Amino acid sequence: MPLPPTTHVEFRGLKKRFGNRLVLDGLDLSIDVGETVALIGPSGAGKSTLLRCLNGLTHFEAGEIRIGDELIQSNGNTSAKAVRQVRRDFGMVFQDFQLFPHLTALENITEAPRQVLRLSHNAARQRGVELLTRVGLGDRTDAYPGELSGGQKQRVAVARALAMQPRGLLCDEITSALDPELKGEVLAVLEDLKRDRMTLLVVTHEIGFARRAADRIVVLADGKVIESGLPEEVLDNPKHERTRQFLRQVMR
Ligand SMILES: Nc1ncnc2c1ncn2[C@@H]1O[C@H](COP(=O)(O)OP(=O)(O)OP(=O)(O)O)[C@@H](O)[C@H]1O
Ligand SMILES: [Mg+2]
Repeated sequence: MPLPPTTHVEFRGLKKRFGNRLVLDGLDLSIDVGETVALIGPSGAGKSTLLRCLNGLTHFEAGEIRIGDELIQSNGNTSAKAVRQVRRDFGMVFQDFQLFPHLTALENITEAPRQVLRLSHNAARQRGVELLTRVGLGDRTDAYPGELSGGQKQRVAVARALAMQPRGLLCDEITSALDPELKGEVLAVLEDLKRDRMTLLVVTHEIGFARRAADRIVVLADGKVIESGLPEEVLDNPKHERTRQFLRQVMR
């Protein structure tokens, strides 16, 4: 199934507070069409918050986010239409899958295309089977989430996001709840999507994956981008002491 062209994303001067804690501190970041960006950085740096701001799941106090022609503005001044469009453009995949337990793998995938895109039962099923096949689960369409491994559940979650034909995916530590041998099968799906030139913004602690698959690594600390560059630049020759510290910890 051909994917629609992707969209440029730009964060400008993003500030986000929780109480009196400044979690995003004037963050600037631009993501190119079709780029795969690995977002790394210490716990509490603001990585999840950044994805949530982009997807309209949380408001911010200053700055703006441009996504193609749409604008997400501070203090919830964004139109409902822009938020809908951004959620259509970018699928989000979470660490804990968030599948419906009472629906089969296929039903989990067909639900939103039927309700939101008004696809017919048959068209949604056809798309669902294609996508499950693509993530290597063509033989498990009728399995319930409780009957699937973590890696399989996460691949269903990716297929569900893809069923809305997004232009990009936002992935928040989607392999961190998985056993090492299951991480690889989920990361392989992302690498396959990258070949389709989807825009991928991937929060990850999988440094090997970031080195292999990312066009660029962006390091977030204290609510700011402290370093950004080619994987080998950032990983082998980090400029910032905070980056060196973080890499020592995750690569231990
Ligand atoms: N709903 C919330 N209410 C209050 N504080 C929050 C909330 N969500 C996040 N925070 C705080 O904002 C900061 C950034 O959190 P965020 O989840 O974005 O970090 P992160 O970089 O994703 O960390 P991790 O690697 O641990 O997932 C943290 O200090 C966190 O405690
Ligand atoms: Mg997080």
